[in-house]
Amino acid sequence: MGDNLTYKILKKHIVDGKLKKDEFIGIKIDQTLTQDSTGTMAYLQLEAMNIDKVKTKKSVAFIDHNMLQQGFENADDHKYIQTVADKHGVYFSRPGNGICHQVFLERFSTPGDTLLGSDSHTPTAGAVGMLSIGAGGLDVALAMAGGAYYINVPKVCKVNLIGKLNYMVASKDIILELLRKLTVKGGVGTVFEYSGEGLKYLSVPQRATITNMGAELGATTSIFQSDERTYEFFKAQNRENEWIELKADENCEYDEEITIDLSKLEPLAAIPHSPDNVKKVNEIGKIKVDQVAIGSCTNSSYEDLMKVAQILKNRKVHKDVSLVIAPGSRQVMEMLARNGALADIINSGARILENSCGPCIGMGQSPGTNSVSLRTFNRNFYGRSGTLSAQIYLVSPEVAAVSAIEGVLTDPRDYKIEFNNLEIDKFLIDDSMIIKPSEESDLVKVVRGPNIKPFPINTKLENTISGKIVLKTEDNITTDHIMPSNAKLLPFRSNIPYLSEFCFNTVDTEFPKRAKENNGGFIIGGENYGQGSSREHAALAPLYLGIKGVIAKSFARIHKANLINSGIIPMKFLNEKDYDEVDLLDELELRNLNENLYNGVLEITNITKGNTFKVKIELSQKEIEIIKAGGKLNYTKNQVDQ
Ligand code: F3S
Repeated sequence: MGDNLTYKILKKHIVDGKLKKDEFIGIKIDQTLTQDSTGTMAYLQLEAMNIDKVKTKKSVAFIDHNMLQQGFENADDHKYIQTVADKHGVYFSRPGNGICHQVFLERFSTPGDTLLGSDSHTPTAGAVGMLSIGAGGLDVALAMAGGAYYINVPKVCKVNLIGKLNYMVASKDIILELLRKLTVKGGVGTVFEYSGEGLKYLSVPQRATITNMGAELGATTSIFQSDERTYEFFKAQNRENEWIELKADENCEYDEEITIDLSKLEPLAAIPHSPDNVKKVNEIGKIKVDQVAIGSCTNSSYEDLMKVAQILKNRKVHKDVSLVIAPGSRQVMEMLARNGALADIINSGARILENSCGPCIGMGQSPGTNSVSLRTFNRNFYGRSGTLSAQIYLVSPEVAAVSAIEGVLTDPRDYKIEFNNLEIDKFLIDDSMIIKPSEESDLVKVVRGPNIKPFPINTKLENTISGKIVLKTEDNITTDHIMPSNAKLLPFRSNIPYLSEFCFNTVDTEFPKRAKENNGGFIIGGENYGQGSSREHAALAPLYLGIKGVIAKSFARIHKANLINSGIIPMKFLNEKDYDEVDLLDELELRNLNENLYNGVLEITNITKGNTFKVKIELSQKEIEIIKAGGKLNYTKNQVDQ
C-alpha cells in the first residue's frame, strides 16, 4: 500500500512517535514564517530561549499587518523585528514587500518541505506541495530553535476535483463550496489533500486561494501535489531548480473522500457573519453594496488582479461604492504597473492601498455603520472589519469587481469579458526588499522601543486550583472576540498588560475588571471555542488576567495549543448539558490535578451550587507535563536544565 502525499512528507520529517492515526508525533520543521502582529511575541520568546542563530533551513519575518504607522509603536515594533531577525539569522521582508503568504508562495515555498508559521493562513503554501501549518508564536519560536513541532497524526481527506470551472466561476467558489458542505469545524484534525483530473485546470495562485481558506474549515492544513502546473509557477518565478515532483502514490488510502464537480459550481458568497454561511450569489439577490475590498492573502495574486483590471477596464466604479484594492505583493503591484493594468484600475475610480493585509483586520477602510461590504478575503467574523454593525460578504474577485461597477451584488456571468494574460511565463523578480540576515550577528544590536513589554509567564500548576467563573460565552467564539486585533489595538501587540484591558471587549466589557477582582478564575465556552487566527495574545491576555482554565464544548486546534503553551487547562464538558448548569461567578474547585489530569476525565466541584460535573481532558502526556510546568517555555527550560 502506497502513501498519500501528507504521509509521504510526515514520514520524512517525523522525529518522535509513531506515524499512526491519532498518535501524538513530533516533526522536524524546515522553514518558519512570522508576521508583525504575532512576530514580536515570537521573537521575544526566541530571545528568552537564549538561541544565537535559528536552526531552520530558512526562517522569514514579514511586516504586513500593521502599516498605518499611527504613533511610534508600529515603527518601533518593525525596527525590533528587523534587528532581532538580523541578529538571529532570519530573513526580513520589508514593509511594502507584501503579505506574508503571497510573498512566501512566490519566493520561499518549497515542495516537500515543512513550514510552521505564526499565522493561521500558513497553509497557503500547501498550494505547491509543502506541508504548511499555522501555530502560535511560541511553537514557531521553538521550531526556530530547532525543536520539533508536535501534532496529532491527522486524518487525511481526499478532495477529488472533477471537471472544469465555468466562465466567471473561481477557485474561491471551490473552497466556499467546501465550507458550505463541511462548516467551520468540519476540518478539525484533518488534512485536505486535493486530487483528481480537475487539478490540471488550476494554477498555483488558484490553488493557493483554496489552501489559504482551508484554514476556515478548522483544518490542520490543505495540500496540492507538486506537478507540471507547479513547475510552470516555479519556472516563471525563476526558481525551477527548487521544484521537485511530489504526488500521492496511486494505490494510497485516505480516511475520507469528497468529490466536487467543478463544472457544476456557481459564483458563491459567504454571508454575514461566518465563512461557512454560504449561498449562491443568484439566490442572495441584488443587495445594495457600499464598499468592495479586493486583496488579502486569499485573493491578491497577479492572476486575480489581472482579472479585476480587465473587468474594470473602461468602466467606472458605481458612485455609491468605495472600491479599495490591495495587491498581495510588490511583485504583483509592479507588474500591474508595468503592463498598464494598474492604470485601468485607477481609471475606474478604484483606490489603491499598500501591498499589505489592510482592511482584512480592520487596519483602515472600516465600512460605514450598517453598511454592506463585499470582500475577497477569508473571514467575515462579527466586528473583524472594525465596524460592528457592518455586513461582510466573502466573494471571488470576479463577483467583487462586477458588483463594484453595478453598485449591487451581481452575478459576474452577466458580464462578457475576454480575459487574457492571466498566466505568464515570467514574473518580475526583484528580491531587494528581502534582507538577508547578517553574517556578523555579534555586531547587530537589537533595538527595543518602549512599547516592548515583558510577556506573562505562568507558574507551576498547583495540585488543587479553585476560582470563579468570570466569563460565560456562546458558541463559535473567535480569537477576534477574545483579543481583538484592530487598528487601535494592533500597535500594542508587544504590550500584553495594555492589551489585556480589551480582552473580550466585544463580548463583555466588564471581563478584565471582573477577572482582576477575582484573581482570575475560569472561562466557560461553547462549541469551537477560539476559532480563527493563530494569535497567541488570545491566550496570553487571559493568562495575564489570571485565567487558570477554559471549559468549553469544543476547541479550535491552534487556540487549544496556545492555551496549553500558556499553562491554561483546556477542558471539554463530558456532558454538554452541564454547560447550562453553570453560571457566571459560580466558584469551581479542581482537586488532585497531578493525578487526575492523566485520567482523561476530571470531576469539578461547583462549590456555589453544591454539585459536581465532569470534564474530558484531551491532552497527550507531553501536553499535561507542559501544563504542570506552567507552560511550554517553563517546560522547555526544565528540560534543558535537567
Ligand atoms: Fe493578513 Fe488577513 Fe491574511 S490579516 S495574513 S490578509 S487573513
